[in-house]
Amino acid sequence: INASEIVYTAAVLEFEAYRDWTDGGSEAIYKRNIHSFEFYATQAKLMGADIIVFPEYGLQGLDHNTRNDSVFQALTVPVPAPSARVAPCDFDNEDVFDPMQKLSCVARRLEMYLVVDLAEKAQALDQDGAVTAVYYNTQAVFDRNGFVVARYRKRHLYEEPNFEPSPDADDAALFTTDFGVAFSLQICFDIVFGEPSYANVQKNLTRDIITSTAWIDRAPFNMAPNVQNGFSRSLGVNLLIANYHWPELGKLGSGVYHGYSDLSHAYTYDEHSGNVLVVSPVRTVLSEPPQRFPHSVLSKPKILKYRRSGDAVRVHKIQDSYEKIMKSSDVLSRSPPHAQQRNQASVCFRDLCCSLSYYYFSSNELMYRLVAYNGYYPAGNRLLYVQVCGVLWCESTDINTCAILEPKPSTPSDFFGPFTLSGNFSSDVTFPSAMMRNFSLIPNKIYGFEEKQNGYSEIKFNVGTFNLAMAYIEGRKYSADIP
Ligand SMILES: *[C@@H]1O[C@H](CO)[C@@H](O)[C@H](O)[C@H]1NC(C)=O
Ligand SMILES: *[C@@H]1O[C@H](CO)[C@@H](O)[C@H](O)[C@H]1NC(C)=O
Ligand SMILES: *[C@@H]1O[C@H](CO)[C@@H](O)[C@H](O)[C@H]1NC(C)=O
Ligand SMILES: *[C@@H]1O[C@H](CO)[C@@H](O)[C@H](O)[C@H]1NC(C)=O
Repeated sequence: INASEIVYTAAVLEFEAYRDWTDGGSEAIYKRNIHSFEFYATQAKLMGADIIVFPEYGLQGLDHNTRNDSVFQALTVPVPAPSARVAPCDFDNEDVFDPMQKLSCVARRLEMYLVVDLAEKAQALDQDGAVTAVYYNTQAVFDRNGFVVARYRKRHLYEEPNFEPSPDADDAALFTTDFGVAFSLQICFDIVFGEPSYANVQKNLTRDIITSTAWIDRAPFNMAPNVQNGFSRSLGVNLLIANYHWPELGKLGSGVYHGYSDLSHAYTYDEHSGNVLVVSPVRTVLSEPPQRFPHSVLSKPKILKYRRSGDAVRVHKIQDSYEKIMKSSDVLSRSPPHAQQRNQASVCFRDLCCSLSYYYFSSNELMYRLVAYNGYYPAGNRLLYVQVCGVLWCESTDINTCAILEPKPSTPSDFFGPFTLSGNFSSDVTFPSAMMRNFSLIPNKIYGFEEKQNGYSEIKFNVGTFNLAMAYIEGRKYSADIP
């Protein structure tokens, strides 16, 4: 670590919020969740955490779209503008329960940064100049004295009809901590767009990104750990990402990703974990001289699972979207591969050509496909422009069995590679991913990733890998999206 770098301690909480309205209304929901936040923040503080990130919808529960208007309203709160320099902890009113006041006092008592996502109630002027209420899906950041130092409103909503998209500029997502590190905020679906955080990485040179999310896993190309790792690795940024825990809705997977330094991530992806706290040292670059040096306690990451009795029977549901995306594919077993020599395959979709050179030493029948896709992909109420080159493992020659992540116990293990997967992309940016059939990410050090000039990107495995589920490069062409 050199003079322009520093190590701080980050915590992220994967959390299933309390959301039962019938047992005390909004106040009970706030109190229970803030009580939990305080408990986990205290655990993180004991491990030296400087900052803790809570998931999207973590304060009020993930029910905004089904709650009726009066319940929704009761679960929204005003958030002071950072420019007002307000610490709600200073305004204790014993008659009215104020969640912002409680959170601010937690930050002050623990002397740590808190990043909370909530439903914000704000005011705007309508066409006639009258004041009306507007609602945002907002991350509020409290500093160590309980002051609101950032307020970022979600830019890219994912079917959230109660909320308006942020009218603020990209720098509303930025804040700098007393330890001299600048962060950029983003919320869930924002991670697949070019702003605010991708733009802040380019313009502001931000190297530490904070994300509150309630992600929905889709196989094979949008599983949470793959998206998170790809973002952190491709952009070379640390990613502190806290997901909502609700495996039955495909919401799972959080972590501290060290894209700026060693690429060795501390992440969790376990439907039986219950609430789970990831605490990790993070090496990064200073954006200004620190006023206060972090006091490191941990030398390596810790993952603490707070299992409850029901967690043993949770079921992880993943939506399949590959039939929409695998428009073009090459079945690698069509001609038997030569075990002793390099095999080649290629497949094109419009002007994207993907190629694979690979070795296959196993005696099993080869059950992998090379796939290419280049075009629109529906997500929420948008059409995203994506380009994908991927290798997918399939349980049989039936394309519908590709990238099934929980194969039958009788399925033999196999070993694929070394291999190189590449494509001539025309995207703004490409993201690499590789996962095993048991849902673990393949460690970044196992494979190289390179984005060359002229759009060519490649993933290169110099050694083969056991039980590969998928390895792919996904490109995004932000300007071609249809809103
Ligand atoms: C809204 O839902 C709550 C909780 O289910 C219920 O108590 C209340 O009567 C509902 N209000 C309206 C206007 O439907
Ligand atoms: C990035 O943004 C932070 C927060 O606004 C600011 O303090 C810092 O100076 C900016 N850094 C650069 C390199 O622009
Ligand atoms: C990719 O390669 C194919 C085949 O050589 C070519 O037709 C296509 O134009 C290339 N695409 C780009 C974006 O360069
Ligand atoms: C998946 O398999 C790899 C390699 O055998 C192992 O290191 C890893 O711990 C496994 N992951 C899970 C979640 O079982």
